[in-house]
Amino acid sequence: MAQLRSYIVGNWKMNGSAADVTVLQAIADAAAGHDGVDVGICPPATLIAAFASAAGPVQIGAQDCHAKASGAHTGNLSAAMIKAAGATYSIIGHSERRADQGESDADVNAKAQALQAAGMGAILCVGETLDERDSGNAIPIVTAQLAASLPDSADGDWLSVAYEPVWAIGTGRVPVAGDIAAMHAALRATLVERLGEAGKGVRILYGGSVNAGNAAEILALPDVGGALVGGASLKAESFVPIIEAALR
Ligand code: PGA
Repeated sequence: MAQLRSYIVGNWKMNGSAADVTVLQAIADAAAGHDGVDVGICPPATLIAAFASAAGPVQIGAQDCHAKASGAHTGNLSAAMIKAAGATYSIIGHSERRADQGESDADVNAKAQALQAAGMGAILCVGETLDERDSGNAIPIVTAQLAASLPDSADGDWLSVAYEPVWAIGTGRVPVAGDIAAMHAALRATLVERLGEAGKGVRILYGGSVNAGNAAEILALPDVGGALVGGASLKAESFVPIIEAALR
């Protein structure tokens, strides 16, 4: 199979305001000069519409969507709603939502199917806690999380996976390269076991304290198809070098 295009996505979490469209524009200018890499930004939902109209080649995504198409779900947004606002995909199953909102693998699986049904993409997040890493069982735990969160209809045309160790998110701590490579190999094996040939076309991103200094090493690892970036995506000066590292 041909090498998959690198995919570098910024997750702004609960940060950013309308004035930060200037940050998006600087990222868009850089992305326009680097057409070998897919670049995305997932702003808060309130900014999706404004960002979508200023995004150039940057793909605008949401940070979550509800599994249902409509109904009595106060505060939630359906896939069709975020699509109408201008998002073309959504992050689902981020560990902060799994922890804060109690989202289960089954919930995440249903969200993925809702996105596919709406003609949208998904970035499905998985990852172990520090206790799970220290127990020595991170690989079976995270591959089981993926297997349960992944719809049978998944393929790389609409779904990517993001491996994000919970203990590496926002902490400045990153697994050693060998541990990232071992997890990505195990996730690839899980994808191929479940999806057959289509499992080879699913990009597996790494996330957790990616920055301009460590991106090149991480992105060069086998089966690392890109990065999901939190803190370092909030400013063009720290995000653009990560895009550039994906081109090497
Ligand atoms: P971080 O966040 O890059 O700030 O560690 C990554 C994420 O949560 O997606």
